[in-house]
Amino acid sequence: MAFDIDMIKEVYGRVAERVDAAREIVGRPLTLSEKILYSHLWDGTPTQAFTRGKDYVDFAPDRVACQDATAQMALLQFMHAGKAQVAVPTTVHCDHLIQAKVGAEADLKRANKTSNEVFDFLGSVSNKYGIGFWKPGAGIIHQVVLENYAFPGGMMIGTDSHTVNAGGLGMVAIGVGGADAVDVMAGMPWELKFPKLIGVKLTGNLSGWTAPKDVILKVAGILTAKGGTGAIIEYFGEGATSMSCTGKGTICNMGAEVGATTSTFGYDESMDRYLRATKRADVADAANQVKEYLTADPEVYQSPEDYFDEVIEINLSELEPHLNGPFTPDLATPISKMSEAAKENDWPLNVQVGLIGSCTNSSYEDISRAASLAKQVSEKNLKTKSDFTITPGSEQVRFTIERDGFIDTFNNIGATVFANACGPCIGMWDRYGDNAANGPRNTIVHSFNRNFAKRADGNPNTLAFVGSPELVTAIAISGRLDFNPLTDTLINEDGEEVRLEEPRGYELPPEGFDVEDAGYQSPAKDGSNVTVSVSQDSDRLQLLEPFEPWDGNNIMGAKLLIKAYGKCTTDHISMAGPWLKYRGHLDNIANNTLIGAINIFNKKTNFVKNQLTGEYGGVPDVQREYKAKNIPTIVVGDHNYGEGSSREHAAMQPRHLGVKAVIVKSFARIHETNLKKQGMLGLTFANEADYDKIQENDTFNFIDLEDFAPDKPLTLEVVHEDGTKENIKLNHTYNDAQIAWYKAGSALNLIKAQNA
Ligand code: F3S
Repeated sequence: MAFDIDMIKEVYGRVAERVDAAREIVGRPLTLSEKILYSHLWDGTPTQAFTRGKDYVDFAPDRVACQDATAQMALLQFMHAGKAQVAVPTTVHCDHLIQAKVGAEADLKRANKTSNEVFDFLGSVSNKYGIGFWKPGAGIIHQVVLENYAFPGGMMIGTDSHTVNAGGLGMVAIGVGGADAVDVMAGMPWELKFPKLIGVKLTGNLSGWTAPKDVILKVAGILTAKGGTGAIIEYFGEGATSMSCTGKGTICNMGAEVGATTSTFGYDESMDRYLRATKRADVADAANQVKEYLTADPEVYQSPEDYFDEVIEINLSELEPHLNGPFTPDLATPISKMSEAAKENDWPLNVQVGLIGSCTNSSYEDISRAASLAKQVSEKNLKTKSDFTITPGSEQVRFTIERDGFIDTFNNIGATVFANACGPCIGMWDRYGDNAANGPRNTIVHSFNRNFAKRADGNPNTLAFVGSPELVTAIAISGRLDFNPLTDTLINEDGEEVRLEEPRGYELPPEGFDVEDAGYQSPAKDGSNVTVSVSQDSDRLQLLEPFEPWDGNNIMGAKLLIKAYGKCTTDHISMAGPWLKYRGHLDNIANNTLIGAINIFNKKTNFVKNQLTGEYGGVPDVQREYKAKNIPTIVVGDHNYGEGSSREHAAMQPRHLGVKAVIVKSFARIHETNLKKQGMLGLTFANEADYDKIQENDTFNFIDLEDFAPDKPLTLEVVHEDGTKENIKLNHTYNDAQIAWYKAGSALNLIKAQNA
């Protein structure tokens, strides 16, 4: 059912020629990332060297994966591309729309009822266009991809920012917006700025309480949330090869949290073992025949400073378990310093819930190590102090860990097993009913990847800390944020002092993976007779109308919709949680546009001035009033605007509502591309300090947009309330092709015209 060995053999069949040609042209040994990039050029065998961080390059990815929340919009767009079948192997995974509440079975039943229309739509579009469909309950996209599709040396894109997880199997796997996925599904090249390269040398070995998660938590602390922007992180060294393949996946997964384009590891025996364990011996055999092309040239690892733009070295033997948070995944605290840090910051020490699993950390190794701690609860006569939940990453993992007794072990400590889905990781956790917004201040620990405010449970007062599944389990047992299992003891039910022994587990199931029904549906061979219906009355799905092309004129008289203060992630621009259900209905989901962004002028969310009336109102309401009167608007933002997920809704919604430009100090890469694809202006202040000049009652004129051209800054005339004017220089990164998207109204409008 799953992978396409012929496609993989084709990739391996050409890798030598392409990599050898690239080495010749570049004139030096190559990193792994370069080998994968140069062997996936749209134009085939390399004929020129590219400049990292500068050149836009067309690539030909091997695969596409979409999750249900983003797939709706991607497939609605693909339906307009005029194609009978997808051009590259593609899968859709139903994982985001399943709310966690009481437990797997009941939650799945409820989701199948409430999102039936969406799942049916995704299933039938997949069936029609040759897309593999993973049903609700089959698992989380990245775990399913790692188990079935990822392969060393491959390149894939996915409509989810944690697509990067597949780097654990030596891929270059990149999260994109749905519009990019549509390009590739439609057989078009996929464009990316040739990334910079960060090398991370791992020396020593993990042992005891330290897990692969701690490597990336440490890297996040070093690089910060935007330190990886525009770069591929390539891990190497003895510490890398000694780690499991799924551990590598965890590290790559959270590369998204430092803004990295992706992360990857060279092919090694752990990958060989994982491929065989997941019943892909033929992929392992094929990879072994070209293995020198699936890792960097030896010279690179001997003197990495000569080949990477930045090199970080981490000694795993000295690495401590970490907890990162709250509210940002790069606030790294080694567990030995947590007591002090919690006191200093007044973080509540009582931990309400420990949550393990998710796409980041639900491998057999993770679960078996966490279970080895849970087992000690009864052995040492302890009582688990926090609530505890598990979200397995796939049905294959769930089935196998149940068979091997781990679910029973967790049940014995009072755990709740949620469905094989995203659940609490994406705000689909019904923890407070309708009262999430006013929930109490409390602490949770989880082994997921993100911990922005409200991310898990919608409660702005929940402080979420990210740690390895082992550490999360130990902390849940103790009930305390400052519990350091390396040094601290616990008092058991008999009043005795006991110590948790180090976690132990298995890299892979000794008896192999097993599953009864993986939840996969193959597409029809000929889908031409399959019908896809979308009801006119649906509030979940809406067929798309093309965006208007640019009229060729300067934009004059624009008003400020919002000047966002501080962090403005895609969650702030297009909130998840309860809004996930409208991901296939552009007009309905537009009602959440920017409601999480903080208005700099009053420090409130969803409270902006309507310059037509002088009144304040919600962002979408005010914007709809501007739209009704045909008045253009702009959005202004700070650094790394649009960081977080790849959802193109964050670009489509403002576009749909009539916003003309987003002007910021800097963009997160995926969001900037999404704005371009949807025919929006995404611009940056040439002088960051000009952000401060934007006032609430200003009017804006783009006085030289008519001359929009690559490498030519634009000029924004700002007219202040008192009539004074000043010009601000705005930079942009649009190339000719992207300017063509802008002119056409969107990239999709262009594709459609080309396929007509
Ligand atoms: Fe899902 Fe959270 Fe992963 S939303 S895809 S489990 S990052």
